[in-house]
Amino acid sequence: MKLFTLLFFAFLGATGTTAQVNIAVETKDNALVLQTSNDSSLYITYFGARLKNTSEYREIGGQYRMTDANNSPTNNAYTPAGTWNLLEPALEIEQADGNHSVELKYVNHKVTKVNDNVILSSILLKDAVYPVSVLLNYKVYFNENIIEQWSVIKNEHAKKSIKLIKYASANLYFTSKKYFLKQYHGSWAEEMKPEEHELTSGIKTLDSKLGTRANLFQPPTFSLSFNKPANEDEGEVLLGTLAWTGNFKIDFEKDAYDHVRLIAGINPYASQYTLLSNSSFETPPFIYTYSRKGIGYASRNLHRWARNYKIPAGNGDRQILLNNWEATYFDFDEKKLVNLFKGAKELGVDLFLLDDGWFANKYPRNDDHAGLGDWQENKKKLPNGIPFLVNAAEKQGIKFGIWVEPEMINPKSELYEKHRDWVIRQPNRKEYYFRNQLVLDLTNPQVQKFVYNVLDSLMIKNPKLAFIKWDCNAVIYNAYSDYLQKNNIPQTHLYVEYVKAFYNILEKFRSKYPDVHMMLCSGGGGRVDYGAMKYFTEYWPSDNTDPYERIFIQWENSVFFPSIASCNHVTDWSKSPIKFRTDVAMMGKPGFDIVVDKLSEKDKAFAIDAVKNFKSVKDIIWHGDMYRLVNPWESNSAAVMYVDSAQRNAVVFNYLTNRRYNVNTSADPVKFKGLDPSKKYLVKEINIYPGDNPGINAAFSGDFLMNVGINTGISSSRPSVVLKISQPYTDK
Ligand code: DGJ
Repeated sequence: MKLFTLLFFAFLGATGTTAQVNIAVETKDNALVLQTSNDSSLYITYFGARLKNTSEYREIGGQYRMTDANNSPTNNAYTPAGTWNLLEPALEIEQADGNHSVELKYVNHKVTKVNDNVILSSILLKDAVYPVSVLLNYKVYFNENIIEQWSVIKNEHAKKSIKLIKYASANLYFTSKKYFLKQYHGSWAEEMKPEEHELTSGIKTLDSKLGTRANLFQPPTFSLSFNKPANEDEGEVLLGTLAWTGNFKIDFEKDAYDHVRLIAGINPYASQYTLLSNSSFETPPFIYTYSRKGIGYASRNLHRWARNYKIPAGNGDRQILLNNWEATYFDFDEKKLVNLFKGAKELGVDLFLLDDGWFANKYPRNDDHAGLGDWQENKKKLPNGIPFLVNAAEKQGIKFGIWVEPEMINPKSELYEKHRDWVIRQPNRKEYYFRNQLVLDLTNPQVQKFVYNVLDSLMIKNPKLAFIKWDCNAVIYNAYSDYLQKNNIPQTHLYVEYVKAFYNILEKFRSKYPDVHMMLCSGGGGRVDYGAMKYFTEYWPSDNTDPYERIFIQWENSVFFPSIASCNHVTDWSKSPIKFRTDVAMMGKPGFDIVVDKLSEKDKAFAIDAVKNFKSVKDIIWHGDMYRLVNPWESNSAAVMYVDSAQRNAVVFNYLTNRRYNVNTSADPVKFKGLDPSKKYLVKEINIYPGDNPGINAAFSGDFLMNVGINTGISSSRPSVVLKISQPYTDK
């Protein structure tokens, strides 16, 4: 790749003060402007629409208050602790002599053109008293309007260590009048429940201290609207998320001027980090996009960015699969599985995914109390091992994938008997379990090797393995590492080193096996973030597959993650008709977790047809632009739409979301978005249940579809409708 770098310095003027430095971090629509003051402090002076005349950025500083009544600026670019700042800091350091002060001054900045779309601005700041520097990085994905922001903190002392007490990734500053934060909360099977409220004075914090499965109760994902709550098409809004698969802390501090400082990063809770002499700490990126055209536009930017730059094979293909988790739970053997393969073939899916329960012998994995850690095939269930299953699947014309949870251990396992020192646990306290299991200590290189080998040997023995589901069902209790203790590394490194080790294992695995598809799972969606999604082709949003519930979970995830990455399975979790369950699953990457043989003839015929239909529209859903048309939180229904980049083909899903008796939502037509108003489109209903009326099949202009819309007639007896929209007419 050709890199092009420009280096800038601040020059000392005749008066002894430095000339003001202006740094504009610009995306296609927006700009973040940073400016130095006379004493070389660096401030955020603007966050908003990109100006046409870039020379005018220089004038911004004079328009904003840079200091408060007591001379303490609130808009610092990376707010330090222990000197002039008395608000929440981005950086707190215990210096080598025990002093807790830091103050950063601008030294220079570099602008590196990574390629035609990606530009990295790196600003170097230094403390004049202590040998500490910070590099603030702003990586811009210009067309997608995305900024990745992180810092690199360096201990420049030749001999002595310092302690990082707080080390945020990003510090931003907003100057609106009102702020509305939409945050998410939940738990197992009820992930991503939104709550929106106006920020009041003081600090609002989003955080996690769970260690692994860190997002179980709250993800590092939010939207912040300015002045009034944004909707899909209107309003100023920032979508933000921290790319870190561990403890996080995001603070929104509304100050005395009604301005908001956002500080996002690794949670400093129990995580003071000792930085040795001459070494650096790189924080994880905080990713954000700002839109003045509502949430929909911001989401499409994030989706495009994720597909182009983050998720493996983001613009590629995915495998529709049949999973056996809900079909069998732990109760299966070779014969049962091979029978399921036949069902997979009949359905026309690409792959069979063998879930939990295939391993361990001394303490067989027949329920969730035993076996985790003992990754040898269970001889009773699978006498011929995994290779036999891979071949048997191949004979049916399908690929094979497998479930693992390699970071975890049941106390009832041979691994625990052999290696208690590999487990995160307090040596002299009672053990606490989450789903009857404990977490392995990934900070230990031997454990890293073990985890890597679990995957590597599966791949070596089964080179045709095409899919891995990586699960993570426990949080970290009793945070204590035997390895850190023995190696004189502070226990406060545990949470951070754990995540770094997790990434190292994945990095190594991905460099050897770049093409294998991998699902990020955490007992549902307890771990979905862009730090992990660098390695996973897809994620599992929730174990809850009841379509009425799932619509809401998928809806909220779709704000931040593209549909190609969302695994949605048809299961027997609910009694809803198979058509409804399948239609909901198709809003992403569908899969099945059912026994095909047990389906009625009609249900089976429907499912087979639905898989074919999906394959004919998957490109639009996975690679197109997503529009959320009808918000389920505001009505009795939901509608989402995907449009290809040529605006020729689209898919609309319309779902009932109210399960009360006899709901009829046909009062309002669904208005489409993203089409060409001047073109004519054929609107054809697909996924029609055998024997039902043929449904909608008519031609309309894009103008009509977007302004008048289509009444799909959903109701309690017709809870979902899928429409394929195509432009069959060539222009004359
Ligand atoms: C939790 C996952 O979310 C499920 O899909 C399944 O894989 C189970 N773990 C297996 O234990």
